[in-house]
Parts: sequence; C-alpha cells; structure tokens
Amino acid sequence: MTTVRLVQPSDDPQWLDLRRALWPDCPADRHALEVQQLCASGGAVFLAEDSDGRAIGFAEVSIRRDHVEGTTETPVPYLEGWYVIPEYRRQGIGRMLVEAVEAWARRQGFTELASDSELENHGAIRAHKRLGFREVGREVHFVRTIPRQE
Ligand SMILES: CC(C)(COP(=O)(O)OP(=O)(O)OC[C@H]1O[C@@H](n2cnc3c(N)ncnc32)[C@H](O)[C@@H]1OP(=O)(O)O)[C@@H](O)C(=O)NCCC(=O)NCCS
Repeated sequence: MTTVRLVQPSDDPQWLDLRRALWPDCPADRHALEVQQLCASGGAVFLAEDSDGRAIGFAEVSIRRDHVEGTTETPVPYLEGWYVIPEYRRQGIGRMLVEAVEAWARRQGFTELASDSELENHGAIRAHKRLGFREVGREVHFVRTIPRQE
C-alpha cells in the first residue's frame, strides 16, 4: 500500500535522490539553495512510500509572495516539484501527493494552489488538468546578460 506523509529530516537522502531524478541537470549547490528557499518560504514537502518503505514520489509546495499568474490571492502555495518514479506512474500516486498538498494548504487557510509545467511536458499538463488545475497562461522566459562596461 502506498502512503503519503510529510518529509522528516531523516528522509533527506531519499528526497534528494527523487529531486535529482526530476531535475537531473540541476547542480548540487542549486538543489541545496532550492531546499533552503523552500523551507524559508514556509512550504512543505510530501513523500510517497510503497509498502516496503521505499520513497517513490514527492511533492514540494512553497509559499510564493510575489504575484503568481492567474491567482487571486497573495501569498499563494505553489507546487514547485511533483514527481513519481516511472514504474509507479498512472496508479493514483501523483493524485495522492497533490491531495496531501491541498489538504495541507487548506489547513493553512489558502484557497488556491498554483503550479507550472514545461510547455512540451504534455503528460504533466494533462495530469494537472485531470487534478482540477485550470490553465491560466503560457510563458517563454528570457534573460539578457548586461555586458560589463570597460
Ligand atoms: C506528473 C506525475 C507526477 C503524475 O504522477 P502519477 O502518479 O502518474 O499521477 P496519477 O496516476 O495520480 O494521475 C493523476 C491523473 O492524471 C492523469 N495522468 C497522469 N499522467 C498522465 C499522462 N501522462 N497523460 C494523461 N493523463 C495523465 C491520470 O489519468 C489521472 O487522472 P484520473 O485520476 O482522472 O484518471 C508523473 O507523471 C511524473 O512524475 N512525471 C514526471 C515529472 C513531471 O513532469 N512533473 C510535473 C512537473 S514538476
């Protein structure tokens, strides 16, 4: 049976393994920074475990205090990471994780949950919609380097 619970400090290695699986190109110091920012925001992390206690998925929710596209409230909880290992997908575990996040956010008094997905991640977009997320916009991000003056 799969269970979903709040992450504990002793879960850090399994949580990091799952983070690395979701974001394989993310350097170690960036993982550390994101974890620190997530905790500082007042967010939460949920871990899904199989019947042997193996970590098989996670969901990270931060509290965003800047404006989030399509939301009506600030601050707003934001699903920063949502991942289930491939062999356990399409069995309702992603749904369990989002329901745990939603219940947690409701207890904090929030009325909305925001999220995002890469434009080409069609599976994740469909999964979000099946879970009741409405699409509120599509974005392309840009950065321009400001050249140093000689
Ligand atoms: C997105 C993800 C977490 C979903 O996890 P999951 O355990 O497969 O999700 P569930 O089985 O609970 O499915 C939830 C709903 O979405 C639907 N769904 C899930 N994956 C889908 C897909 N690839 N295509 C279409 N629908 C999908 C399910 O049918 C289900 O709807 P239903 O209950 O109405 O039938 C998982 O696919 C994943 O880890 N993907 C890679 C990481 C990722 O893209 N994360 C999101 C961005 S951070």
